[in-house]
Amino acid sequence: MKKTNNDREYPGHYTDLEGWTPGDLEYFTIPQDWENYTDEEHKLWAHLFDRQEEILKGRAITQFMDSLSTLGITRDRIPKLEEVNEILMKKTGWEVVGVPGVIPVYPFTELLANRKFPAGTFLRKPKHMDYIEEPDIFHDLFGHVPLLADPVFADYIQLFGQGSIKARGMNADKFLGRLYWYTVEFGLIEEKDGLKIYGAGIMSSPTEAVFALENPSPHRIRFDKERMMRTQVKIDDFQAQYFVIDSFDQLFKETAEPDFTPIYEELKQQPMIKEGETVPEDVFINKGTREYEKIANEKRAAKKKNKS
Ligand SMILES: [Fe+2]
Repeated sequence: MKKTNNDREYPGHYTDLEGWTPGDLEYFTIPQDWENYTDEEHKLWAHLFDRQEEILKGRAITQFMDSLSTLGITRDRIPKLEEVNEILMKKTGWEVVGVPGVIPVYPFTELLANRKFPAGTFLRKPKHMDYIEEPDIFHDLFGHVPLLADPVFADYIQLFGQGSIKARGMNADKFLGRLYWYTVEFGLIEEKDGLKIYGAGIMSSPTEAVFALENPSPHRIRFDKERMMRTQVKIDDFQAQYFVIDSFDQLFKETAEPDFTPIYEELKQQPMIKEGETVPEDVFINKGTREYEKIANEKRAAKKKNKS
């Protein structure tokens, strides 16, 4: 049965592929139902937008803010997907489609391979102002969509989707998931005047936008796709390392290999790299102090002790 859940109180988290067949691009998509957003939600959107716009000054990749306004993503109201799509389609042939929450990896990557970006239609609640695990419309539209107007980055995301389809059955989902994580979600780029954010997970987070660029704790390491695909990710706290690209051209060229099969085979033989751990091949922009993790671990240990 097609998923029609549009319950914005609790976003869906779908893992079940029953009923979905490969090639079905509509099974997990839902209408945005824009008319159903409340005034409070539009106000919350404006608040999130204003706060992030201020924080991202000088921190986001150069074209980011211009791209937001070109696509009509403004503070005034939660944008209508059809209006954003009209402009985005003309620019790069991408469109944004509504989804009820987190959807399984196969339909997700098939949408990407077909230049359709799945966006949660719900908006977080005020209690989740700073962080929400499920991607909501603020994370997806504000964080991801502006860079889909960049032709090279747009091609990279499609390439990722196509590569993921090819990799099915090779037990390589985790490697590709990490590549996506450390580029599309948590990537940094080196511009002439310093490091900037391009990953949507950082772009839509007020605290990580500052942490990722300015805190001395995390490592900032030059792009190395095999290394990234071996590196554990952190889903509930700031990253222990960020990977830095020179340009979207580099990202595209380095991943546009016709066949990743030998890379997956080699990766399977190698140990995973724990968060914060370094390897001899690392080329650092700066080696982190790891102070933040130390304090966070101490706090966690104290909390555990208090409970027992
Ligand atoms: Fe995301």
